[in-house]
Amino acid sequence: MENEKLSVIITGGASGIGEAIARIIINKGGNVGIIDLNSEKANTLSNELGERCIFRQANVTDEPEFSKAYLSIKDMMPAVTGCVTCAGVLPVRDPISKHTLEDFRSVLDNHISGTFLTCKIIGTDMAERKNGSIVTLSSVLAVRPGPVLGYGAAKAGVVNLSQSLAVQWGKDNVRVNTICPGWVDTPFIRKQEEDGRDLSPIIDMTPIGRMIKPEEIAKLAYFLLSPSSSAMTGSVILADGGITLAGGYLPYGPLP
Ligand SMILES: NC(=O)c1ccc[n+]([C@@H]2O[C@H](COP(=O)([O-])OP(=O)(O)OC[C@H]3O[C@@H](n4cnc5c(N)ncnc54)[C@H](O)[C@@H]3O)[C@@H](O)[C@H]2O)c1
Repeated sequence: MENEKLSVIITGGASGIGEAIARIIINKGGNVGIIDLNSEKANTLSNELGERCIFRQANVTDEPEFSKAYLSIKDMMPAVTGCVTCAGVLPVRDPISKHTLEDFRSVLDNHISGTFLTCKIIGTDMAERKNGSIVTLSSVLAVRPGPVLGYGAAKAGVVNLSQSLAVQWGKDNVRVNTICPGWVDTPFIRKQEEDGRDLSPIIDMTPIGRMIKPEEIAKLAYFLLSPSSSAMTGSVILADGGITLAGGYLPYGPLP
């Protein structure tokens, strides 16, 4: 049982944390289905990882498109044992007076509706087979808010949604656990540097004194996806290098 090969769908698996999770599962002999918008990156990765990694392009907020992608991947892999919701967009950092409703809705839609749809389509399938583990990606901002309106609300919503599903699917043997990462060194974060933001104050404030590596989050996700974590559902796990111990919203930086 502990050596069970995992067969996992990863949304947003073309990059960053999702990519690191795909690599660890393939390296341990499992199968991966990646659903992502970025076909260029995902095709390069799936070609590198070989035939046990399949990619389909879809938007996690589009039900027919996502459903079609999942059904086509599912037919090509062993029975799906888990899924990870890594698809996500960057926060919009405008203060509320300048924050458009369109931006607010778009961030909420991507993170909350995307997690909802992924769980609805893949989790329901796993619940019918009475076997599955879902890992959702939230953020330290869910528990320690910063000045990022839609993103913080969305990530808090992801925690609540995941815990509600953990209750709903408890007796169906589908577990749902949530990781709240701190600052992880991925293109998602590096994009902010490219946009001229100095990340060094944040790194200085982090008790471990560095950003987290995507592989560190991937090892935690692997544990949660595997039968080793069979007693855990509805858990919210901080993987933040200690940054939530470091103060209020400052870890996110001052208001723009
Ligand atoms: N990197 C961090 O420091 C950090 C911290 C806390 C939480 N997170 C969360 O972890 C998750 C992964 O972040 P990452 O740093 O690996 O980001 P990333 O930008 O490296 O990867 C995100 C992937 O999601 C895909 N994607 C975005 N919107 C999509 C959509 N609507 N449909 C399908 N695919 C979509 C992108 O194409 C990309 O490949 C996100 O939910 C993010 O909010 C990241």
